[in-house]
Amino acid sequence: MATVYEATASAPVNIAVIKYWGKRDTKLILPTNSSLSVTLDQDHLRSTTTSRADPSFTEDRLWLNGKVDEITPGSRLATCIAEMKRLRKETVEDKDPNAPKLSTYKVHIASYNNFPTAAGLASSASGFAALVASLAQLYALPASPSTLSLIARQGSGSACRSLFGGFVAWEMGALPSGEDSLAVEIAPREHWPQMHALICVVSDDKKGTSSTSGMQRTVDTSPLLQHRIAHVVPQRMAAISDAIRARDFDTFARITMADSNQFHAVALDTEPPIFYMNDVSRAIIALIVEYNRLALAQGKGYKAAYTYDAGPNAVIYALEENIKEIAQLVTAYFPQRAGEFKDVLGLYGDAAKDI
Ligand code: PMV
Repeated sequence: MATVYEATASAPVNIAVIKYWGKRDTKLILPTNSSLSVTLDQDHLRSTTTSRADPSFTEDRLWLNGKVDEITPGSRLATCIAEMKRLRKETVEDKDPNAPKLSTYKVHIASYNNFPTAAGLASSASGFAALVASLAQLYALPASPSTLSLIARQGSGSACRSLFGGFVAWEMGALPSGEDSLAVEIAPREHWPQMHALICVVSDDKKGTSSTSGMQRTVDTSPLLQHRIAHVVPQRMAAISDAIRARDFDTFARITMADSNQFHAVALDTEPPIFYMNDVSRAIIALIVEYNRLALAQGKGYKAAYTYDAGPNAVIYALEENIKEIAQLVTAYFPQRAGEFKDVLGLYGDAAKDI
């Protein structure tokens, strides 16, 4: 019987605490600033991808959640697949004449998200990371996660960070080739297992302005973005990396919330302006601010840090001991009642199942 060349890999969602917003090279996806994220390791926020190479296949094909997805020539998806085939050829087949020429076979790829794709959760990050991880396994590549991150980056910038668990930086790099624009691990998950994330799905509508077009508009028009790139992000990257290494939640929380605020200020500073948060998002900010104010007044330090991506959904980082209280607080103020309240559609997180 002929050998079956097939591999399955999965990758989780990551949520940035220092936001990536702006490309200096749109084809290679090179960012205008470095960024840093936490990879969510919960089982229910993952993409799982199976890929198969076979000489009988006549074209590369992709199924996303069971539906055929077009692989347009020149698209980011096509680039990622081509780059993975190139790595297979250069690092395996050119070195070992007996290695099967998998780089010449077409691939069939099936990918599933175990969370709503349109929910404004970073499905492209986990999706491209899982795609690259599954092809790396199929092709038996001797490549490190940082090397693979160079390819995932060309699918969706933030995807490069999902190749690591735990606390991950995407270093913007300086080379025009993009060879040094890659993900590196700041600390593994085990370093700070008390860190948890609670996701409050405020709306599962598809976002109004895609990250690609929004970023382009911001780069073209926002003076605040230039200030952020030159004078804010470099210091924050260093300070939050130190805070993670020292397990200093106060500093982590202050920087995380400040960076989310500045990202949304930069979106507002864009011409025409972009609004990603809605009234519920802002009400959740007010709730967390008040919750922290009370904790600070009692000398307890910060208890929660909110952050928002290019959409209205809140991600709340907190230490495990406070997660349940926060989840109860959010559900008390934004109850989920079928047909009555659509504000908070769901809470995802380790503690959410207990409330
Ligand atoms: O990788 P993209 O194109 O989906 O952009 C992601 C941008 C943000 O989620 C807003 C920030 C980030 O660093 O993940």
